[in-house]
Amino acid sequence: MTKICCIGAGYVGGPTMAMIAKQCPDVQVTVVDINEKRIAAWQTDDLPIYEPGLDEVVKEALGRNLFFSTDVDQGIRDAEIVFVSVNTPTKTFGAGAGCASDLQYWELCARRIKEVSTSDKIIVEKSTLPVRTAEAMERVLHSGQTDVHFEVLSNPEFLAEGTAIADLENPDRVLIGGHETPSGQKALQTLVDIYATWIPRERILTANVWSAELSKLTANAFLAQRVSSINAISALCEATEADIGEVAHAIGTDSRIGPKFLKASIGFGGSCFKKDILNLVYLCESYGLQAPADYWRQVVAMNEYQESRFVKTMLHSMFNTIAGKRIAIFGFAFKADTGDTRESPAIKVCRELAAEHATLVVSDPQAMEHAKLEMPELADEIEFEVDPCKAAEGAHAVAVLTDWKQYKELDYQRIFDSMQKPAFLFDGRNMLDHQALFDIGFEVYSIGKGKKTHLK
Ligand code: NAD
Ligand code: UGA
Repeated sequence: MTKICCIGAGYVGGPTMAMIAKQCPDVQVTVVDINEKRIAAWQTDDLPIYEPGLDEVVKEALGRNLFFSTDVDQGIRDAEIVFVSVNTPTKTFGAGAGCASDLQYWELCARRIKEVSTSDKIIVEKSTLPVRTAEAMERVLHSGQTDVHFEVLSNPEFLAEGTAIADLENPDRVLIGGHETPSGQKALQTLVDIYATWIPRERILTANVWSAELSKLTANAFLAQRVSSINAISALCEATEADIGEVAHAIGTDSRIGPKFLKASIGFGGSCFKKDILNLVYLCESYGLQAPADYWRQVVAMNEYQESRFVKTMLHSMFNTIAGKRIAIFGFAFKADTGDTRESPAIKVCRELAAEHATLVVSDPQAMEHAKLEMPELADEIEFEVDPCKAAEGAHAVAVLTDWKQYKELDYQRIFDSMQKPAFLFDGRNMLDHQALFDIGFEVYSIGKGKKTHLK
């Protein structure tokens, strides 16, 4: 029986390993982590992350060929294949602070693997890493006296939160990078064979290690760039009475552009887009490529502009003062169907509203606990109310920040009746029926569309 160990039981390690275990009953998968609480939670009905469909996948394999453990060393020692799926956040100190990838967790894993391994292993980079990290990894692994051989592969993960299970079950592609040496190609084939259990062979792409590493950063940069591009146009729409929905549809029907990822919003969030673009920026700068670095940095700058622009619209439309006004925040997660709030645009929006002395009531169906932790400095000032209708009671405004589909189904007449007048609604996701809201009596503001106001 092939034995796999995955270091890191987070948003990527947990679901990806659960899927491999589900699809390959003859492979033993052990996910290890230093976070005891997380490891314990993976073995209960209350999983540490919210992801539609994840419970069933975990349930099917848990205890059969899927195991979770805090014994990192034993997990590594027993395995033929070790995935490393630890966090690689943006560095907050020293050289490259605010831009470069913080590789300390990654390197700690490499050192641990080297320290405890007594047999040859394939090491798989699952975390998103700067191009040529595998080279540093190999140096650490093969430093000093050792008889053990490590073959490093790059197998970046492309799942999106909220759709992780569908993405893992039926991915557009799986990418595996390996060295063009006989042992590199043999290791690559071993991993291809595992994925080929459930993924059509033509969707399993192989490449050299550096291309695989760079493709991950590039994919996220291109995706984020589309959001920033459409958001840039949304500002122009608001100034010109063009409608961003119509523009997105018109350009998206061009098969070269395509319709996906053209939804204007308050901005992209999530743990990776910003960090991965800044990582790319840092890499470009490290190689002396200033123009490409500046080009990609602008995608992040545009996103920050969009978040602040939304707050400015709120402030301006509410007569340039929101001090003491109750504002209900509908949604704090960075997107629907996740409880993840990392880099959520809601954080910046709430901070900027709080700086104007607004009274905030935050509501979200899955992200309340994380929301509280994101803004510790405002913990005493912000109210948290899971029921959006209650959150809106007595409010001057509602701001929709996450595209939870349940927000479409609320009784907006009841919400309107319970609010202060004029009642403002700011749809940061362009997801509600603006005409219907206007007809109820709301002052309606959205992204890249004309405002609908009863005020003269
Ligand atoms: P995460 O923070 O949810 O999980 C990482 C886990 O690694 C944590 O539980 C942490 O305790 C553990 N860990 C850290 N150092 C460790 C060590 N030395 N030994 C054992 N465990 C250790 O992170 P994530 O969201 O799963 O992301 C992991 C990587 O995958 C990142 O590089 C990220 O860029 C990439 N990625 C994330 C997503 C996503 O949707 N979140 C998608 C694709 C790729
Ligand atoms: C993204 C990528 O889609 C994944 O392929 C990648 O694996 C992952 O990052 C990663 O490396 O972490 P994720 O961040 O989970 O996945 O979610 P997305 O669906 O990409 O959304 C990111 C942000 O962009 C969200 O805040 C979303 O609301 C926003 N967005 C997305 C828009 O504002 N408009 C769009 O048209 C699409």
